[in-house]
Amino acid sequence: MKIGIIGAGQIGSALIRQYLKAGHEVKMTNATNLAKMKALEDETGAKPVSLTDVVKDVDALVVTIPSIEIPKLANSLGQSISSNTVVIDTTNYYPIRDGKIDELENGMTESVWVSTKLGVPVVKAYNSILAGSLIHSGSTENSASRIALPVSGDDQHAKEIVSKLINDSGFDALDIGNLQDSWRQQPGSPVYCTDLNLSQLRNNITQVKKERLTQRREQAVQFIIENNPAKWLEWWKDCVANNRKVYETAL
Ligand SMILES: NC(=O)c1ccc[n+]([C@@H]2O[C@H](COP(=O)([O-])OP(=O)(O)OC[C@H]3O[C@@H](n4cnc5c(N)ncnc54)[C@H](OP(=O)(O)O)[C@@H]3O)[C@@H](O)[C@H]2O)c1
Repeated sequence: MKIGIIGAGQIGSALIRQYLKAGHEVKMTNATNLAKMKALEDETGAKPVSLTDVVKDVDALVVTIPSIEIPKLANSLGQSISSNTVVIDTTNYYPIRDGKIDELENGMTESVWVSTKLGVPVVKAYNSILAGSLIHSGSTENSASRIALPVSGDDQHAKEIVSKLINDSGFDALDIGNLQDSWRQQPGSPVYCTDLNLSQLRNNITQVKKERLTQRREQAVQFIIENNPAKWLEWWKDCVANNRKVYETAL
């Protein structure tokens, strides 16, 4: 598959490595300059390209940038994403990082907001796994403890393509429904960054309560703030354990 990645940070660079390993062709772009991606290019062979080029002739496009950057990205992209391209949205809204975004504060489903801003359908995926787990915890198909990731979207075929990519990354995929209901995999959900296997994910996804998301998201953020946030990638397993504790107290 030909894949474009917008955002070569923690999540983008992990996906680039995994997709190339699985035999896909990958190009990438970032916000500042292409030279910043030289080391990643040297290591992986992924091609740094401009924003204009990253969307050209790709089967899938991963948008993996902070939410606050989405309107700017939408402006720069205009109508340049082909209707044949499957767009994957990994973003999560964190007011502490993104500032307050009115529509999201008012309860709009995050990926519906992204889709509306970009003007194209998106599939929500990879938002519910911490970069540490994405990098270190993938495993082979059929292993009992394999982590499973929820996938939401309105196009069945697009979700199948994304599920195949997730499998290539080392994880199971579970289609949990349409984009409007994808709040069930947002921050604060018991399936959010809790590293569940497929049967645990199937169970927990039925029990998500929308009204609890914001408070639990903030509880999880507080844990990071109190514990050396600059180095959180070194102790991400503690974050997963804390998330489980916070979310499981009352599913
Ligand atoms: N980190 C996690 O554990 C995790 C887990 C799941 C989901 N997510 C979500 O996934 C998204 C990416 O997270 P991350 O941790 O990978 O972020 P990150 O490490 O901060 O990387 C962000 C990347 O996006 C690029 N970027 C920013 N604005 C852009 C724009 N307007 N156009 C093109 N590229 C742009 C940045 O480029 P420059 O380097 O040039 O600034 C950088 O390469 C966020 O929404 C986050 O909430 C993160």
